[in-house]
Amino acid sequence: MSKNDYNDSYPGDGPLISPSLLSADFTNLADALKLAEDAGAPWLHLDIMDGHFVPNLTYGPPLIAALRPHTDLVFDVHLMIENPDETLDWYLDAGADFITVHYESARDIKKMGESVHSRSKSFGVALKPDTPVSVLEDYLPCLDMVLIMSVYPGFSGQSFIDDTLLRLEELRKLCEATGTNPLIQVDGGINKDTAALVTARGARCLVAGNAFFKAANPAQALQEIAEAF
Ligand code: DX5
Ligand code: ZN
Repeated sequence: MSKNDYNDSYPGDGPLISPSLLSADFTNLADALKLAEDAGAPWLHLDIMDGHFVPNLTYGPPLIAALRPHTDLVFDVHLMIENPDETLDWYLDAGADFITVHYESARDIKKMGESVHSRSKSFGVALKPDTPVSVLEDYLPCLDMVLIMSVYPGFSGQSFIDDTLLRLEELRKLCEATGTNPLIQVDGGINKDTAALVTARGARCLVAGNAFFKAANPAQALQEIAEAF
């Protein structure tokens, strides 16, 4: 894959919603996969936290590898870890389709992008809420996706940070100025109301944790978020 080629593998016309497994019932992950599939979600978001980069600890490559044979959902792996450069391959080996690393802990973004693309997988960079969008300027051509965090990473169920809307507008301008078109993902506090706000500002992939897995009717919740597109 080369510059912004996610379009080839993941036609982006329909609503792209990525339910976050972090909000699922961990005693029944097979059911969580089925819930996402039955609701028509194309992706599954897997939050990898190491207890250092963020103050929480989740799961790692063995869990991704265990889930991989049970579903065709696109595995959208969000690495909230120190030293992603050193362990990137673990997640590719485990079955990640999209790998997103944080700008704040990455050492060599271009090299990681090449490494992910050499394995025909897709690569993204995430920004914490306080990191200026402008840091991406030199990297946009090698990114399939930019993830704008709309909460401080670490936990599901937090409230959407309103400043995200300005950051999305800034990102859109930066993409125009650089002639790039990465998929723009937003993660944190997404529900049908915030979904409408971010899709109006160029977001095309939305992560939904609590809004999906904690909903009384997840399929209906996903449908309501999809209507925002
Ligand atoms: C937070 C994670 C999110 C989280 C989203 O650090 O990156 O993916 O699971 O959960 P909600 O949608 O409940 O905010
Ligand atoms: Zn996430």
